[in-house]
Amino acid sequence: MRNIISFFQSKKNQSPISMVTCYDYTFASLINQTEIECLLVGDSLGMVVQGHPSTLPVSLDEMIYHTKAVKRGAPDKFIIADLPFLSYQTSLQDGIFSAGRLIKETNADAVKLEGADPLSLSLVKRLTEIGIPVMGHLGLTPQSYQTLGGYKVQGKSPQSAEMIFKSSLALEEAGAFSIVLEMIPEELGTSISKKIHIPTIGIGAGRSTDGQVLVIYDLLGMNPEFTPKFLKKFAEIGKIIQSSVQMYHSEVLGKNFPEEKNCF
Ligand code: KIV
Repeated sequence: MRNIISFFQSKKNQSPISMVTCYDYTFASLINQTEIECLLVGDSLGMVVQGHPSTLPVSLDEMIYHTKAVKRGAPDKFIIADLPFLSYQTSLQDGIFSAGRLIKETNADAVKLEGADPLSLSLVKRLTEIGIPVMGHLGLTPQSYQTLGGYKVQGKSPQSAEMIFKSSLALEEAGAFSIVLEMIPEELGTSISKKIHIPTIGIGAGRSTDGQVLVIYDLLGMNPEFTPKFLKKFAEIGKIIQSSVQMYHSEVLGKNFPEEKNCF
């Protein structure tokens, strides 16, 4: 079973870490039967579950609600829960309180937060001191998409690459047990992964990160319009859902469902 020590061991043994997002009990129960060990209850749920244009509207209570459901479906997996926008950016005290609620009320194993500004770094340090493992998140940090100019590849200029590189060192120094690197050039993902001693988990960060993460609905092909370069669709479940629902609808209208065998 995964814990933060096994994260470090995976890095040492060069054994890739695979992670996927998860937001509800049914998906968690299905994933629980697979070998994947880490589930991220990402605030991406604001977009893929709730239909918002960004992750910003997601509340701490909503993160707690979804994380509890995932934990019920996958009690033995290593579950990381996102701290949503404004649950930790206001003060150190707010951040500790929010992370504490996420862990206390859901029994998640770790929290994730975005960025490496001074307040975030103090929070990573304090949470680690009080026993809450923290995963960092650099590169494209969706909670700051407005100031980043949209959902764009980050770290393309030497200055931006240097800032992300230095932020990864600072997060490691503050005590983060792992860092998500989102949408950065492969070269930068490689140099960070080589330099720091904690595992990097990439999403659009190339082939050399210590692990990979994808949004579950994206890898299952449930959003046909979403086709970023970093994504590989491992299935076309969206098409299966549409054709199954269409078939059901046609059978109801054609009085072919329910059949005798479906009746009491
Ligand atoms: O919210 C999320 O799902 C994430 C992943 C994309 C890394 O942060």
